[in-house]
Amino acid sequence: MDTSHGTHEDKRTIAIETLNLTKRFGKFVAVNNLTLSIRKGEIFGFLGPNGAGKSTTIRMLCGILEPTSGEGSVGGYSLIREPEKIKRVIGYMSQSFGLYQDLTVEENLRFYARLYIADRKTCMENIEKAIELVQLDQYRKTLAANLSGGWRQRLALACAIVHEPQIIFLDEPTAGIDPVSRRVLWDFLYELSHAGTTLFVTTHYMEEAERCNRIGFIWQGNLVACSTPEGVKSSYVNRYILNLKCRPIDRAYALLKHDMTLVRDVNFYGDELHIVVDDAQTALPAIHRVLADAGIAVTLLEQIQPSIEDVFVALAQEKKNGSPH
Ligand SMILES: Nc1ncnc2c1ncn2[C@@H]1O[C@H](COP(=O)(O)OP(=O)(O)OP(=O)(O)O)[C@@H](O)[C@H]1O
Ligand SMILES: [Mg+2]
Repeated sequence: MDTSHGTHEDKRTIAIETLNLTKRFGKFVAVNNLTLSIRKGEIFGFLGPNGAGKSTTIRMLCGILEPTSGEGSVGGYSLIREPEKIKRVIGYMSQSFGLYQDLTVEENLRFYARLYIADRKTCMENIEKAIELVQLDQYRKTLAANLSGGWRQRLALACAIVHEPQIIFLDEPTAGIDPVSRRVLWDFLYELSHAGTTLFVTTHYMEEAERCNRIGFIWQGNLVACSTPEGVKSSYVNRYILNLKCRPIDRAYALLKHDMTLVRDVNFYGDELHIVVDDAQTALPAIHRVLADAGIAVTLLEQIQPSIEDVFVALAQEKKNGSPH
């Protein structure tokens, strides 16, 4: 975005802004007219199915990939005219992060720190801080190639933050890492956010989406929802979720999946089914009847609040079926 057009207020509070940002690969539109505004210190979660356009968006915002059309600014610099300046103020952990396998943990960090920091003392201090934050001390002399997946991920994160950037892009930073380590990483992201760092994070984990200040859901290149986690859930109007526990669950699924009059959608959630209906009051007794007639033993059937996952599954499916949400 042309920074000269922004108000002073915008400049002080906005970290990332886009207007109709679009990326085409040949005829294929990977990101379509994306308009976003993310404030400083915000944790913005970017969600969407595989191939939706998340990484492509991040690469444009990092100044690595030239947009086809539209505009945007990151840290006050134009995506179109000042991509090199953007690279100085951001940290980027890509989905296939660029660690040097033949360097140790410490050497990888030193490499990234020196790219950005001229002063040697600051460089060393930042490296120590990063090692401490992601708890990599025990592995500092280990080659990146010999780290397990989760630890390699931590190292990649440490490399992305070692120069203490104002804005950090993390493309699936917690993919494939264990729940305890994920929690540790999120605590760390909160710390950064409280200190004023802006975080743009993609994830496929819905409980991580709940931890963001705001979330955007992208589907086939289009931003189809963008709000706080609460806002996203409350936008889910005129649909109700019923939670069903029963035996045998497979038969109940097959039965309900094909009951187009009663049920809009049905999905597995662990050993339960979430049933999407238009009218909970009518559906509850009717579903009880259908299941009883089929000899299925119901242990629980109740209306529940939709989770973010319910909303996104519904959004993606409704888009696929071409019906409005
Ligand atoms: N350089 C490229 N040339 C052609 N098509 C591309 C290129 N980069 C990405 N695409 C396509 O653009 C679409 C969006 O890809 P992108 O990597 O942004 O998806 P994503 O949302 O990050 O998915 P995932 O969750 O799997 O990481 C995909 O269909 C992908 O195949
Ligand atoms: Mg991706």
